[in-house]
Amino acid sequence: MMSTDLLAIEQAGKTFGSGRHARPAVVDMSLSFPSDGARLITIAGESGCGKTTLALMALGFLKPTTGEVLYKGIALPDLNRADFRRFRHKVQAVLQNPFETFNPFYGVSHPLHLALRQLGVAPRSREGKRLMEQALEKVRLDPGQVLERYPHQMSGGQLQRVSIARAMLFSPELIVADEPVSMIDASLRVLVLRHLVDLKVRDGINILYITHDLSTALQISDELLIAHRGRIVERGDPQEIVDNPQDDYTRLLVTSVPVPDPDQRWGQESVPTAS
Ligand SMILES: Nc1ncnc2c1ncn2[C@@H]1O[C@H](COP(=O)(O)OP(=O)(O)OP(=O)(O)O)[C@@H](O)[C@H]1O
Ligand SMILES: [Mg+2]
Repeated sequence: MMSTDLLAIEQAGKTFGSGRHARPAVVDMSLSFPSDGARLITIAGESGCGKTTLALMALGFLKPTTGEVLYKGIALPDLNRADFRRFRHKVQAVLQNPFETFNPFYGVSHPLHLALRQLGVAPRSREGKRLMEQALEKVRLDPGQVLERYPHQMSGGQLQRVSIARAMLFSPELIVADEPVSMIDASLRVLVLRHLVDLKVRDGINILYITHDLSTALQISDELLIAHRGRIVERGDPQEIVDNPQDDYTRLLVTSVPVPDPDQRWGQESVPTAS
């Protein structure tokens, strides 16, 4: 018997505008996370190829024009209230630029409080405090230090961890991490990846990692999808794709990955391994 996928995107397409102005941003993209075992799937491709559009469809924030997104076998529009709420909680977004995520006028604890309210827990209750402490400890932050601060008093890496902690409050099954093309610091990107791998290996959380940068994603991905002009042009085992790219665009992408030392493939010192 076939088991039902946790999340399946089936030939999803999105066209913005209509008539003469219709512009397909995503065409027939499919991917799925099985319900057994955690996987890290990376979508890589240049700016404007449709990555964020796909992410927003996966999160249920954008309705596909064609195809569908299914959560545990049921298309998102067909989920009943309770199941849609469950989907909302269990499929979380972590935005990659922490400075865009945090409001400078609120304390760092603000997004955590909002998440707790969504879960029906009073942030200042004993239970609320316990949950926040647990989530922060999972990303190795000291709750006593973090909760009193403002965003500008923290490093980008620390803020990033707070947003992962926010997602962790929901005990997510899948995290969609969409990295904006605005250059985040390379060291911060490596840090983020390390946390994502940690979540997968330690907490069994599935990750959909979206990036324009192939090099850092290579060793940690179970599956790599190359997107180009709204389509997936190649998919499969990351190392196989790099060793033997089939598509012209993939070839271009692969040859443009900087390899600092010919004996050291893809900067192996800088990113953690998949398992
Ligand atoms: N709300 C929208 N209305 C109209 N066009 C849009 C909208 N959102 C995205 N697009 C267009 O769809 C295409 C894909 O955009 P998308 O944001 O998904 O790209 P991306 O791969 O995430 O790019 P980046 O790496 O720069 O973040 C682009 O041509 C973009 O201009
Ligand atoms: Mg984007």
